[in-house]
Amino acid sequence: MSNPTEIAEIDGMSEKSAKTLVWDARHEMGMGEFRSVSEMEVNTKYITTGSANFDAIMGGGIPTGYITEVFGAFKSGKTNLSHTLCVTTQLPSSHGGLGGSVLFIDTENTFSKAKIERIARRFGLDPKEVLRNIYHARIYSSDHQIQMINAAEVAIQTKGAKLVIIDSLMALLRAEYIGIGLLARRQAVLNKIIHEISRLAETYNIAVMVTNQVATVMKGTFTAQDAIGGNIVAHGCQFRVQFKSKGFSMNSSLERTATIVDAVDVPPESCNFFITDKGISDEEDPEFAKESLKKTKALLEVELISAADIDDTMEDTEFEEEEPKKNSPKKKTTKKKGK
Ligand SMILES: Nc1ncnc2c1ncn2[C@@H]1O[C@H](COP(=O)(O)OP(=O)(O)OP(=O)(O)O)[C@@H](O)[C@H]1O
Ligand SMILES: [Mg+2]
Repeated sequence: MSNPTEIAEIDGMSEKSAKTLVWDARHEMGMGEFRSVSEMEVNTKYITTGSANFDAIMGGGIPTGYITEVFGAFKSGKTNLSHTLCVTTQLPSSHGGLGGSVLFIDTENTFSKAKIERIARRFGLDPKEVLRNIYHARIYSSDHQIQMINAAEVAIQTKGAKLVIIDSLMALLRAEYIGIGLLARRQAVLNKIIHEISRLAETYNIAVMVTNQVATVMKGTFTAQDAIGGNIVAHGCQFRVQFKSKGFSMNSSLERTATIVDAVDVPPESCNFFITDKGISDEEDPEFAKESLKKTKALLEVELISAADIDDTMEDTEFEEEEPKKNSPKKKTTKKKGK
C-alpha cells in the first residue's frame, strides 16, 4: 500500500528496485487485478460515542476502516468526545466497544486523566485499567505529528489499538504555516498525514477520529463556519461531522448539536447531545447541571442586586423628600414591588 518513492527512502534501496518490490507485493496480495465486488469483505464495526442519538445518525457509532472528522468551534465538545471514545473503545463489543486500546495524539495539551477516570466509572470500568490502555503522545510540531503517525503503525500491532485519535489535526499546521505563500507546503504535509492515517484505518480495520477547528468564511452576504484544511481534509475524511453549541456561543448551556456533513452511507442528519463531566451523553448530567446552574444563578444575582441598589437609593431619596417619616425612627428601606 506504500508508494515506491517512500520505500526508495530506505538506505541502499534504489528507486527501480523499490518499484519492482511494491508492484510484486501488490501482485502477491491480489491488488494487481480487478475483483468481483461479491468477494469484497465489509467488516465495519462501530464504537459508541456515549450518546445513543449520535450513534444513530452515524449508523452505529464511530466506524472502523474510515477517518471520521469532527469539526466545530471552540468548546463545541470535540475533546470531550475524544475522551469518551478513549473509554468506550475499551468496552466489550456487547456494550458498544471493540475491546481494544487507544492511541491519543494530543496537539493541544488538553488530555485529562481525571476526566477519563470519571468516564470509566460511568461505564462500569476500572479507571486504572482504562488509563493503562490509553497510549498518549503530546505533540509539539507538525513534523513530530508525522513522526508519531508513523509510529502508530507499530503501536497498533503491539498494543492492540482499535482507535487512533488526533486532537487536533490542524492546530500545529495552522500555527506553523501562516499565509498563502506556505499554503502549498502545508497542504503537502497534510496530504501525507491524511494518506497515512487512511491507510492505517483500512489496513488494520481500526477507527481513526480527527478533530478539526473552524474558520469563518463568507458565503455571499452571510458568514458560515467551515472546517479548515481545505479540500484535502474534506475529500480525505469519509465521515465528517460538525458540532455546534446551541444558541449563542457565549451561553453556558452544555447542549450541543451534531450534524453529518458528509458520509459514506448515512443521510445528512442532526441530533442533540450534552457535554457532561462524565463524557458526552444524551442526558444532561444531574450533578454537573446542578453545579453549573448554581454558578449561573449566583452571577445573575450579583448583577441584579447591584442594579437594584442603585434604583432603590434614588427611590428612597425621592420618597423621603416628599413624605418625611416623623413617626418612624427607623429609615424605611422597603423596596418597591416588582423591582
Ligand atoms: N467536567 C465538565 N463537565 C461538564 N462540562 C464540561 C466539563 N469540562 C468541560 N466542560 C465543558 O466542555 C466544553 C469544552 O468542550 P471541549 O473541550 O470538548 O471543546 P472543544 O471542541 O475541544 O474545544 P477546542 O476547540 O477549544 O479544543 C466547555 O463548554 C466546558 O464548559
Ligand atoms: Mg479541544
